[in-house]
Amino acid sequence: MTEAVREIPLSRPWVDEREEELVLEVLRSGRLSLGPWIERFEELLAERVGAPHAAAVSSGTAGLHMLCHVAGIGAGDEVITSPLSFVASANCFILEGATPVFADIDPKTLNMDPAAVEAAITERTRGIVAVDMFGRPCELDELRAIADRHGLVLIEDAAEALGAEYDGRPIGAQGPSAVFGFYPNKQMTTGEGGVVVTHSEDVWRQIVSLRNQGRSYGEGGGWFHHVRVGFNYRWTDVQAAIGIAQLEKLDRILELRAAAARRYGELLEDLGGIEGLPPDDAKHRRSWFVYVVRLDSDLDRGDVMTALRREGVATAEYVPCIHLQPYMRERYGFGEGLCPVAEGVASRTLALPFFTQIEAEDQARVMEVLRVAVGG
Ligand SMILES: Cc1ncc(COP(=O)(O)O)c(C=O)c1O
Repeated sequence: MTEAVREIPLSRPWVDEREEELVLEVLRSGRLSLGPWIERFEELLAERVGAPHAAAVSSGTAGLHMLCHVAGIGAGDEVITSPLSFVASANCFILEGATPVFADIDPKTLNMDPAAVEAAITERTRGIVAVDMFGRPCELDELRAIADRHGLVLIEDAAEALGAEYDGRPIGAQGPSAVFGFYPNKQMTTGEGGVVVTHSEDVWRQIVSLRNQGRSYGEGGGWFHHVRVGFNYRWTDVQAAIGIAQLEKLDRILELRAAAARRYGELLEDLGGIEGLPPDDAKHRRSWFVYVVRLDSDLDRGDVMTALRREGVATAEYVPCIHLQPYMRERYGFGEGLCPVAEGVASRTLALPFFTQIEAEDQARVMEVLRVAVGG
């Protein structure tokens, strides 16, 4: 009998005594929600990303949904987003009654190709949800120019991109309202959660009210004073405590993840038939979220993934195209061929174990198993 192999997980959050200490402080304070920790977190986060306003919310999806709501996106509108993303990038405006339009990606960036965005605009287009996929900033200047020219709202889905930089400044500093996500596979986590950052005080005020059932207290009115239809997209102080501890070590987190990505990159160089994520350039600095590789088309991805899992290396298809999800096919009749570049990439990508504290020797084992799996 062979010895059981030790599993290398796909992701794992880095939490330690500091998170424990701060969470305990909140628990002992007797105030678990709508307390002072959330505001403290928001101030620290806003400062970190260079945005004047931040509003913490229950998830990245909730933040995106509220930004679409505030923008007045609704039935009859079309919104353009990337087919190579997580479903929330489209669901955020579908929930408001709008119709998704997918603009194909640029194979050099894996983000939406601005020319494809421009070509997708019709008289019904109301907005663009631009995604910083796999932590790489999207083509912000070009997309902003398109949005301005056509009078569209631009929302940045930066759920995967906390710490990324565009043109030398952090994502969040550039201007479009953006959302970061804190699910445990993200660069920093709070279990669940997200944050909207914005340069518009008006948008921020609306989000703060909407996340809390449309209440207006703070601007006058009491607890049971509701000025709009809202949501319960609130965060808790317990999450804020975790978030503050995570923010304290965010620079270290980003460094360790970049170092781990570099190690994988070096190991990949010896492997034929496999491509890593597009490199940074002068304008785009990725914040490492996941480690995704693209297999040559002559390799069978299913076989490679089975071989990895057999050796205890976790892996996942990362990510399937949004427009090919069952509900998208049924509801809008989307199918193969709509976005050939994204479909080609999505059919060949897989994620390898990647997290802040991954050990170099585990990375070497992952690459060795991958080498055998692809017959290298
Ligand atoms: C690109 C993208 N958008 C949106 C989300 C949604 O974030 P959350 O899971 O916090 O709702 C995610 C999270 O996985 C994501 O990767």
